[in-house]
Amino acid sequence: MPQAPLVKVEFEGDIAWVTVNNPPVNATSTKVRQGLADAVAAVKGARVAFLGCAGKTFIAGGDMSEFDAPAVEPHLPDVVQMIEESKVPFVALMHGNVLGGGFEIAMACAWRIAAPGTGFGLPEVNVGLIPGAGGTQRLPRLVGMETAIDMACSGKILKAEALKPLGAVDLIEADLTQAARDFAKELPERPLPVSQREVPEFAVDLLESSHAALKKRAKGQRSPLENLMALIWALEPFEHGQPKERARHLELRKSAESRALRHAFFAERSVSKPSDIVGVEPRNISQIAVVGGGLMGAGIATAALTGGLSVTLIERDTEAAAAAQERVASLLQGAVKRGKMSEALMKDRLSAFKAVDDYAEAADAQLAIEAVFEDLGVKQQVFTSLAEHMDANAILATNTSYLDPTEIFAGIENQSRCIGLHFFSPAHVMKLLEIVKTPETSAEVIATGFALGKKLRKVSVLSGICDGFIGNRMLAAFRREADYLLADGALPYQVDEAVREFGMPMGPYELQDLTGLQIAWANRKRNAETRDPKERYVSIADQLCEMERFGQRSGKGWYRYEEGNRAPIRDPEVEGIVEAYSAKHRIVRKQFSSEEISSRLLAVLANEGALIIEEGIAENAEAVDMVQIHGYGFPRWRGGPMNYQTEIGKSVSRATMETVAEESPNSWKLSGK
Ligand code: NAI
Repeated sequence: MPQAPLVKVEFEGDIAWVTVNNPPVNATSTKVRQGLADAVAAVKGARVAFLGCAGKTFIAGGDMSEFDAPAVEPHLPDVVQMIEESKVPFVALMHGNVLGGGFEIAMACAWRIAAPGTGFGLPEVNVGLIPGAGGTQRLPRLVGMETAIDMACSGKILKAEALKPLGAVDLIEADLTQAARDFAKELPERPLPVSQREVPEFAVDLLESSHAALKKRAKGQRSPLENLMALIWALEPFEHGQPKERARHLELRKSAESRALRHAFFAERSVSKPSDIVGVEPRNISQIAVVGGGLMGAGIATAALTGGLSVTLIERDTEAAAAAQERVASLLQGAVKRGKMSEALMKDRLSAFKAVDDYAEAADAQLAIEAVFEDLGVKQQVFTSLAEHMDANAILATNTSYLDPTEIFAGIENQSRCIGLHFFSPAHVMKLLEIVKTPETSAEVIATGFALGKKLRKVSVLSGICDGFIGNRMLAAFRREADYLLADGALPYQVDEAVREFGMPMGPYELQDLTGLQIAWANRKRNAETRDPKERYVSIADQLCEMERFGQRSGKGWYRYEEGNRAPIRDPEVEGIVEAYSAKHRIVRKQFSSEEISSRLLAVLANEGALIIEEGIAENAEAVDMVQIHGYGFPRWRGGPMNYQTEIGKSVSRATMETVAEESPNSWKLSGK
């Protein structure tokens, strides 16, 4: 069968209709670009040409799968130029999203008509790029420099309603075809092409203040500043600025940052389809029970309510249930305050929620998530009670961080319905969900976990069972190496600084101070007996805990804190303890540069990630990278530790790991062996 053309041209009297049909998002692939170029030639003779799209959206971007190869003709800037210069004026008829190349094409049209709620944006910055077809050159001329910076440097999407007062959208109409026919009856005078307009005047300090703000926010990412620079080129004649933008766009396609961000973009999509569930239909879940309404349980309940589910939360007694009710209500109210939810929706969601102290109330739930104390006996008891009251086939899930789910579910009949759903704190905010399968979990139940994750707007990653699953196991390795670095010569602030310089939001020691040192201390004491005596163990953190330096809440930890201030201050007392530790163990303290510190920590992360993949705990590098980016603040623009390792060269990372292993013998297992 001949393929339907991706760009169709039809005539209705002297009106030409150009329709792009390249599902799902009408991306500007090579064939679409060719189709548009042909369309510009084909509409000759018409009085006006309306350019619209079939399906759910206007052109919503480029075809990123083409970005690794050299650009192929016809190039988008040429097509955009042809549209702008066409004797027959083009009118963009837009619905859904008008993004990237789609927005660049729309800006080249003489007029723009949009359906209500249509979104406009230049999201190239999110994949480490600047637009390549005049986006940064036309946008400030069309909407002014301030809005252009706001959009291009952050990828922010603005609605047609916000752009119309700026003159960037001419009409907002629900029936686009009818609006087009009416518009064609009497065309207004054709305006000056956007590329030939002047950038409207803007505040003198706008560029400087934007530069400073972007630099601070970007945490090492280049593309927001690259976009700012390209926008500044728009102050030159278009004929100068546009080729500069194009050349830079092509260079950036080859940059490590863009590769990393594209990797993250594709990995986010691929991890939601692990091989275990290909072709498996999930169950539809609309009603769940959450057991435990503390920090995690309240967050999970909030995420589920926000995702449109009904939630029954079960607590130990009426008092605890009332406290959980309060907690969830205040989390939902927080969403209203931040403008993420309307007051009416919050009320609706609260009416789908109840906190109780009776397991019988879980009877109608299709799935239960347990988030009670991290204690095997308590958790086993919870599941026994749930199994008594719920349907024999209902899904039972644990949010445990470290316990072995097979032990938690030991007494349960039909363990194919049992699974781990490991959320991250705060659970209504953090994107990551580790879906932990036991050897018994059925594919249908795993698929249902993923479907639930999607409803809760999480990035779900499948994990097998090991201590800490994917994320916390890597975190443990990372922290262990950080402690070895302290013992061998670094100070806490140096490690934290190196990690922040790499692009993480926080270093390991300031983070420990923020979350508190006690839980990890209790864990270490619990594991003391089973620890391999040959493995190097640095006890500095234990010493701090013995001195009741538990972190910010106790006023001191790895740092000291001034009353009412959360900024960590270097503490000579702690640094003295670190140095004394080295002296006591006859370690000659070395100087480590920031680079050495971060490269060792990164090598450890990549090594642990590789072991996790080798053991079949994670399916692939994408899964490991997504866990790090969405659960632990690993900079997205570095693509995750596995992508970063590929970028710097596996042999380089391997050599660093060998140094790490030599520095702390008997303490590391190396991947690939
Ligand atoms: P939490 O101490 O804040 O809350 C536990 C809640 O469970 C309390 O409200 C308690 O009253 C309730 N509870 C205890 N026994 C119960 C029972 N038999 N029936 C009903 N409710 C009961 O603890 P948190 O931090 O929320 O942790 C809960 C679970 O989530 C633990 O397994 C933990 O390992 C896991 N987790 C914790 C994370 C964190 O960052 N805190 C992150 C991911 C998982």
